[in-house]
Amino acid sequence: MTPMRIFSGIQPTGSKHLGNYIGAIAQYVEGQDRGEALYCLVDLHATTLPYEPVELRRSLYDLTALLLAAGVDPERCILFRQGDVQEHTELCWLLCSVTELGRLQRMHQFRDKSLAQRELVSAGLLLYPVLQAADVLAYRAHEVPVGEDQREHLELMRDVARRFNARFGEGQEVLVVPEHRIPTVGARIMDLQAPERKMSTTGGTEQGTVLVLDPPAAIEKKFKSAVTDSGSEIKRDPQKPGISNLIDILAAVRGVGTEAIEMEFSSARYGEFKLAVAAAVVERLQPVRERYELLRADEPELERILAQGAEKAREIASQTLIDVRHHMGVGPPRRVQPLP
Ligand code: AMP
Ligand code: TRP
Repeated sequence: MTPMRIFSGIQPTGSKHLGNYIGAIAQYVEGQDRGEALYCLVDLHATTLPYEPVELRRSLYDLTALLLAAGVDPERCILFRQGDVQEHTELCWLLCSVTELGRLQRMHQFRDKSLAQRELVSAGLLLYPVLQAADVLAYRAHEVPVGEDQREHLELMRDVARRFNARFGEGQEVLVVPEHRIPTVGARIMDLQAPERKMSTTGGTEQGTVLVLDPPAAIEKKFKSAVTDSGSEIKRDPQKPGISNLIDILAAVRGVGTEAIEMEFSSARYGEFKLAVAAAVVERLQPVRERYELLRADEPELERILAQGAEKAREIASQTLIDVRHHMGVGPPRRVQPLP
């Protein structure tokens, strides 16, 4: 039986926040124990919005060091940079032939990002989900750990794989239709100041966004000033988005269900509860921050880890591309095995 293959991608843009950590990075670490994991820093995706080349390189190293500090281990997974493996861009183009244009135009992220864009709305922004599909399908991955905001991209990816197999597969499953893995608690961490919005470095408030690398005092301050409601009960409720979010954060950080948190704090006050959440988050993020400083200082080592990951990734992706080209009739015919 083929082992479970896990794939996820993360953009080397902006500072990573508690939502990224809980929704994605913590699942990456856990995935290393469940199967063959590949984690990709998607620099090509980062070119779809206006950006600075020098900044992109720097952020890529920042993110590499952050993932390593959080427990992503290059000995137990394949950690690599998307731009190092050309199969991603080739497969993106090939998959365009089974991707419906109208569907891309209707994707929520495309609509949001293109509306917010004051400069050029690039064609890359429209093709973003096709490149994302190529990322995963090139490895015939079974499972994709992501936060809630990626659900639509995963649906498209699954349809693209199915459509490819139906059109070109000749009865075979040339591409694997992957499953998403969205955590049950913490798939959508909200802004602490505006709990009706997801936590984000681009769309959120500064005071409501806890960064993975924030010093303890800053984390405490942000939790202390978190927006709650006029009630006093620590219970999840759609009418209480602030308290619900804090319950989710603590449950996710401790790895327990939300009911356990509600029970434990049933007679606590909001202020006390906020301090407990802050303490748990600080305890979880402090070691990451300390390891980060050491790892980030050694760029040649980061580069070595990425190059080694890319080599392993290429080995897998190039096999898929041989099959895809063969089935699509692209390039020279596949060499027939010589007779013995
Ligand atoms: P990005 O930084 O946009 O590449 O996102 C990296 C990962 O973090 C993706 O899997 C997202 O789904 C996840 N993510 C982003 N924001 C949040 C959030 N507020 N809550 C939970 N997961 C999130
Ligand atoms: N679009 C994802 C995000 O913004 C990043 C991403 C790129 C990704 N390729 C991927 C996620 C492949 C999962 C699988 O978070």
